[in-house]
Amino acid sequence: MKSLLLISGSASATSSNTKLLRMMADTFADSYRMEVMDGLWELPLYTHERELAGIPDVVKNLREKVKRADAVLISTPEYLHNIPAVLKNALEWMTTSGELSEKPVLAITLTPRAPRGENAMRSLLQSLVASKARVLAELPIHLDELAIGDERGKAMDDDHRSLLQEAIALL
Ligand SMILES: Cc1cc2nc3c(=O)[nH]c(=O)nc-3n(C[C@H](O)[C@H](O)[C@H](O)COP(=O)(O)O)c2cc1C
Repeated sequence: MKSLLLISGSASATSSNTKLLRMMADTFADSYRMEVMDGLWELPLYTHERELAGIPDVVKNLREKVKRADAVLISTPEYLHNIPAVLKNALEWMTTSGELSEKPVLAITLTPRAPRGENAMRSLLQSLVASKARVLAELPIHLDELAIGDERGKAMDDDHRSLLQEAIALL
């Protein structure tokens, strides 16, 4: 069974992106080993000097999880026409260590409604290309088309289930 790491790019503890990833982990639990990772705000801000001074445990944990995963899914909101700083920061911490190099990635944006999210997707793809990741699919999703329940494990509608299933199968 393939192991997939599902990273939420949001800076919110009540994030809809994190809810989507939890829903995916429940929906596809029989076919993939899926681990959801949020809380990117726990990572210290990347600086060259901090990296030289010794890698913090939270960063080691992120690097290890990405390294071990067969593929990575990143689902992100858009902040100021970009990806959230917490996500960019996480990607910066993996620049020199290279965990994303050659890693199959599914890039997802989850934003309120079309065409929102286009800038975040562009920005995410640029960072992933610079990280030498293998971006195998990109999927813009909008909240007004998706029912995201508060409770973990609420069933996903059939259209989104097939869309996500097809995208994950590419990884
Ligand atoms: C600091 C900040 C900046 C934002 N900037 C944008 C933006 O540029 N474009 C956009 O579509 N939404 C923007 N939003 C709205 C978020 O994308 C939207 O609330 C999203 O659904 C949050 O996702 P989450 O629940 O996973 O955190 C911004 C939100 C915040 C907090």
